[in-house]
Amino acid sequence: MTPPLIAPSILAADFANLQRDIELINRSEADWIHVDVMDGVFVPNISFGIPVCEAVNKHALKPLDVHLMIVQPERYIDAFARAGAAHPDRPGTILVHYEACTHLHRTLTQIRETGCRTGVALNPHTPVELLADSLDEIDQVLLMSVNPGFGGQSFIPHTLQKIRKLRHLLASAGKTALIEIDGGVGTENIAELVEAGADVLVAGSSVFRASDPTEAIHTLKFFNQT
Ligand code: DX5
Ligand code: ZN
Repeated sequence: MTPPLIAPSILAADFANLQRDIELINRSEADWIHVDVMDGVFVPNISFGIPVCEAVNKHALKPLDVHLMIVQPERYIDAFARAGAAHPDRPGTILVHYEACTHLHRTLTQIRETGCRTGVALNPHTPVELLADSLDEIDQVLLMSVNPGFGGQSFIPHTLQKIRKLRHLLASAGKTALIEIDGGVGTENIAELVEAGADVLVAGSSVFRASDPTEAIHTLKFFNQT
């Protein structure tokens, strides 16, 4: 079985040592760097914005997976693309929330025009079927497995059913969009997530709160070989 892609979330990194933590991800077996942008309106928390994304990009050697938990994301897509998501040597993904987009088709077209991969994130209560008429425009679907806004929350078990439904929806339509899971991911649930059909796992606390984050990334990626 192909190992899943691992995207450590820098929301759980030490912001006073961000360069150190980015370099740790660079040297590890992680695939992407997950960048959680929160505006205090779409979610009840504020994380960081464009200047911090630029700082991450300055040291990153892996694609940025930029998760916009903000209202009216179309206003900032070009800025986050320039801040590193559209890096020519390691193009990344810009993810917008379904619940924040009035004109999803237009917004996804805008992301594609920057050279980034397109992603749509769904809150825990949002049915995967709502994406049925957008699959041509989507490279990646992020299923929130906690309510967005904070790291360190408990995984919502219903997510497993959503992964299976989404896997079925994609297969029936002949589409290859990646399925990404975000929130409460760790060694205790990674096997069932991958078995249900997850391709990409975001991990914040389970990486950066571990005594050895590099080893934690290895254990997540090769969970079935230990
Ligand atoms: C939550 C963020 C997540 C968060 C995950 O709103 O989207 O990416 O960093 O953190 P953990 O892995 O600690 O649940
Ligand atoms: Zn996220």
